Parts: sequence; C-alpha cells; structure tokens
Amino acid sequence: MTFVVTENCIKCKFTDCVDVCPVDCFHEGPNFLVIDPEECIDCTLCEPECPAEAIFAEDELPEGQEHFIALNAELAENWPVISEVKDGLEDADEWNGKPNKIELLEK
Ligand code: SF4
Ligand code: F3S
Repeated sequence: MTFVVTENCIKCKFTDCVDVCPVDCFHEGPNFLVIDPEECIDCTLCEPECPAEAIFAEDELPEGQEHFIALNAELAENWPVISEVKDGLEDADEWNGKPNKIELLEK
C-alpha cells in the first residue's frame, strides 16, 4: 500500500508533510507534491499533518481522486525529492478547498 497526495495540494503545497516522513518519499513539482509509492512505508504520519487534508491512504481515497494513485507514481519518477519544509505557495490559504485544481497542475 501507499499514501497518495490528492488534488487539494495543488497551488497550496504547504510542505508540512515533508517534515514527518521518515523515508523522504515526497517529490516536489512547481505547485504540487507527490509520494513515491516505491518508497512509502505506510507509517501514516503525514496524513494528519497536511493543512489541506490532501493526503490519503490509497484504499481510502475520496471519490473522484483515484487517478491520483497513477499520477503520484508517474510524477515521482521525474520530480526531485524534497526533505525540508518551506513556505507554502503564495495565496495558499485562498486556494485551500477550491474545486477543479487539477487543471492548474504544473508539470
Ligand atoms: Fe512518508 Fe509515512 Fe507519509 Fe508514506 S505514510 S509518505 S512513509 S510519512
Ligand atoms: Fe501538499 Fe499538504 Fe504536503 S498541501 S505539500 S500534501 S502538507
């Protein structure tokens, strides 16, 4: 199993999740983070840390977010590891909870 970053991370990228991951499995893109499913050890620590509630176990994904399993795996192969917390994106609080952010994902 793995944990998965879903749509509400897009344009927020608070990075609190990175601080608790014991195996550095988060990878960073311009406005989104993903989890490498090959590295995640299912420790559950990141899930409650995300202010945007964007992280779920792969078998507990909200309806409509299932395609983020493949997207996390795909993007983790191309994006660099992030292991230190940084400031969230500008206007992150305003974007938290907005619908249809998938169209704004920058790869
Ligand atoms: Fe990292 Fe644990 Fe979250 Fe997996 S569940 S991404 S190992 S903090
Ligand atoms: Fe994204 Fe939440 Fe981490 S917004 S960067 S999954 S803390």
